[in-house]
Amino acid sequence: MKKELRKTFKNANLSVDMRVLYAKEVQESTVVELKKEVRRFGHLFSRPPLLALILLGSDGASVTYVSNKRKLGDEIGIEHRDFFLPEETSESELLSLIDSLNGDDSVDGILVQLPLPKHISEEKVISRISHEKDVDGFSPYNMGLLALGEEALVPCTAKGIMTILEYYKVPLSGKSVTIIGRSNIVGRPLSLLLSKKGVDATVTLCHSKTKDLERYTKDSDVVIVAVGRPKYFDSSMAKNDAVVIDVGITRVSDSSRKRGYRIEGDVDFSSFENTDAMVTPVPGGVGVMTVTSLMENLLKAAFLRKGVEA
Ligand code: GUN
Repeated sequence: MKKELRKTFKNANLSVDMRVLYAKEVQESTVVELKKEVRRFGHLFSRPPLLALILLGSDGASVTYVSNKRKLGDEIGIEHRDFFLPEETSESELLSLIDSLNGDDSVDGILVQLPLPKHISEEKVISRISHEKDVDGFSPYNMGLLALGEEALVPCTAKGIMTILEYYKVPLSGKSVTIIGRSNIVGRPLSLLLSKKGVDATVTLCHSKTKDLERYTKDSDVVIVAVGRPKYFDSSMAKNDAVVIDVGITRVSDSSRKRGYRIEGDVDFSSFENTDAMVTPVPGGVGVMTVTSLMENLLKAAFLRKGVEA
């Protein structure tokens, strides 16, 4: 570990010896490119790329995520059309809205914020979005392309994690990577991205039924933790110089905060103090890149629909 690459964590008065993989600087460099691409699209097609954002109900976390998407969209200059619908919206109403957006040539990308209320089938809704406009990359079509190692719209959190690893030049070829969590949003697509030709990591995908998890994590160069349980993973479960990616963003009640909660990751960040590990912080880590990757996907979808290479 090169000494000059080490950073001091600025929050919580911690002085830590590990490297902190801040996502803000990764985002800043990506945003510069995104703004250029938005301008290029505007010059070619006399309009900005357009994202349709659909949110049902008022779940606090979902409202925050959608608001972050709108904010970054405004910053890079895309247009967004927002559909904030009541929780009671029926499945057929939602499917009709998706049909009309699929058929609207001015719409380049469609995002339905998950989770959906229980009376609506997420699979049905996701499958209904035209694969060309599927900026979340959750459709069977895009997941299928990803599984085949072909060019696809890739789920944003998984894509964002790959961007962080690439930005910080984390070696992956021939390295062992353990992913904890096999969701369709993060773990499964990430396992495909990391094991594909050209990236060449050896991937272990662990889940709730995995026996003796530490057998895998302690032997891994990179560990990606996506379980949704605060402080689930600590330094006793990892190699001293592991790269640890924290995907958790759980709201924990905290009366000392004005908003009544704080955000906690799946990784016990301070346990990595005085190790040679590299760890993503929460907040300021993977979550930042999820939104950034969405904008990359929107640009890609917008150009592809016009038959132009992104
Ligand atoms: N809910 C949690 N993560 C995501 C995401 O990446 N996309 C959508 N649409 N909903 C989510």
